[in-house]
Amino acid sequence: MFITLEGIEGSGKSTLIKNINSYFLGLNKKIIITREPGATLIGQKIRDLLLSPESEISSKTELLLMLADREQHINKLIVPNLKLNNIVISDRYFDSTIAYQGGGRGLDTSMIKMLISSLQMPIPDLTFLIDIPVKVGLLRAKKRSHLDRFENEEIQFHERVKSSYYKIAKENSQRIKIINGEQTEEKLFEDVLKIINSNLKNGE
Ligand code: TYD
Repeated sequence: MFITLEGIEGSGKSTLIKNINSYFLGLNKKIIITREPGATLIGQKIRDLLLSPESEISSKTELLLMLADREQHINKLIVPNLKLNNIVISDRYFDSTIAYQGGGRGLDTSMIKMLISSLQMPIPDLTFLIDIPVKVGLLRAKKRSHLDRFENEEIQFHERVKSSYYKIAKENSQRIKIINGEQTEEKLFEDVLKIINSNLKNGE
């Protein structure tokens, strides 16, 4: 089973992932937690380029670097683990590219979707979109650490990312589940777990 987590900055994906991981490890299920960008050796280098506030990167270069990172991620990690029947959970995946490079940067989303489908990127079984107001998310991100190149963007950029996420969720309502990110960590995890478990049952 392939699950992805999506959301704007500071939406609480990391805590949720930790909870999902401990739950499935407790059940002795093989679970692989991964993230984008930066899950492979090459990906780590690409991630440094992408997130460094010093990088001057054009929007199209940014798009292609995200796709290069993903291609490597798919080949080295996602597909091999799915073949072994492991549960793969990725913190961000192709919906991030549509929301950030499409919505945020304003690149043509049909071009991005076309690239994703031409590269035959596997489609997740389930995607959770953790929904919080932009201001709340940015405040959380600011408290956490130094701001990276994306977190440093103006508030309007993040608003565009958020609306783009809503749009993608509407277009893919079977796959993408919107989860309230302002509730307690426990409740958020409970909501997500219910959906994962019902999907696991249906897949049996
Ligand atoms: P990260 O520190 O992993 O952010 P977060 O904790 O919010 O997930 O940084 C990843 C950044 O890269 C994040 O700001 C979103 C951005 N991104 C894109 O713009 N496009 C993409 O396709 C992906 C995967 C990430």
